Amino acid sequence: MKAIIIKEFGAPSVLTLTDVETPVAGNEEVLVEVKAVSINPVDVKTRAGSGIAGRLKDLMPIILGWDISGRVVTSDSEKFKVGDDVFGMINFPGYGKAYSTYVNVPASQLALKPSTISHEEAAAATLAALTAYQVLVHHAKIKKGSRVLVHAGSGGVGHFGVQIAKHLGAYVITTSSAANKEFVMTLGADEHIDYKSQKFEEVTSNIDFVFDTVGGENIIRSLEVIKDGGRLISIPTYISEEAARIAKSRNITAHFELVYSDGKDMEQIAKLLEQKIVIPHLDTVFAFEDMAKAHALLETGHTVGKIVLTL
Ligand SMILES: NC(=O)c1ccc[n+]([C@@H]2O[C@H](COP(=O)([O-])OP(=O)(O)OC[C@H]3O[C@@H](n4cnc5c(N)ncnc54)[C@H](OP(=O)(O)O)[C@@H]3O)[C@@H](O)[C@H]2O)c1
Repeated sequence: MKAIIIKEFGAPSVLTLTDVETPVAGNEEVLVEVKAVSINPVDVKTRAGSGIAGRLKDLMPIILGWDISGRVVTSDSEKFKVGDDVFGMINFPGYGKAYSTYVNVPASQLALKPSTISHEEAAAATLAALTAYQVLVHHAKIKKGSRVLVHAGSGGVGHFGVQIAKHLGAYVITTSSAANKEFVMTLGADEHIDYKSQKFEEVTSNIDFVFDTVGGENIIRSLEVIKDGGRLISIPTYISEEAARIAKSRNITAHFELVYSDGKDMEQIAKLLEQKIVIPHLDTVFAFEDMAKAHALLETGHTVGKIVLTL
């Protein structure tokens, strides 16, 4: 089968299309013929030697990627039968091997793809959608009427975050550049802040929950807008000692969260997709062979929604 491997960490040019042995489905696994994959900043970071490179470096050469949509060709699980269309995030934060024409996946990490959406849309709604879902539903437990600030509402995670927070009944404020204002408002945001021309901490306040998808100094700046007893979750970076100290002094809970593979959460996402409560936005769809181009585009940090590749 075809796979895109890396033999060393580095620039997008290390991504190499090659032939490897097709895997065989093990206990409670399904073998999926991959129809589309999506990529995330963690793919780019890991390729370059950060991200979760530390967990994978001893396995070189490695197949990157975690997000797939495809068709079951062999099943060792009662959950799925041959011919089912499925989607999910494989073995994150571990070895996913998604950049391949066939991939073995624990059945517990997949959900049936809604027939109303394409494999490209389904592949887009995996790691980024799961992150937004787990943060807003499981960790932050967003309630109707909560004032929620979602940073980078135009990004992969952010555009799912705005839609899911709105669905949970929150009043949603989001940041993006002016160029993406119309896009984030169509996702259901109640207010937009242009992060390039305005300091968000000067124009908003009284926030119950900040979903930080930017990291670094954005965390400390975000603490200024959160009300007493509120919460912040950051996904790009850990909470620094300084940020933790400020959060404590203001009675704010601040923590980092990492997304994890979970078929039950994927089933909830499938329902939201089927009901068109959540609609994935595809920035660009590439051919699988153009993985290096796709990585280079994502690395700009200014794509809208998701980048997907078709097989
Ligand atoms: N912990 C976890 O489990 C986890 C899971 C998923 C992602 N992450 C991390 O979370 C981060 C976001 O991921 P992603 O997939 O959403 O990234 P992404 O799709 O690459 O984000 C790009 C978007 O960010 C916007 N943006 C850039 N700088 C901004 C700023 N200062 N303020 C507001 N918006 C800004 C850009 O909008 P403009 O073009 O308008 O500037 C662009 O639309 C990454 O660091 C990723 O590694 C962590």
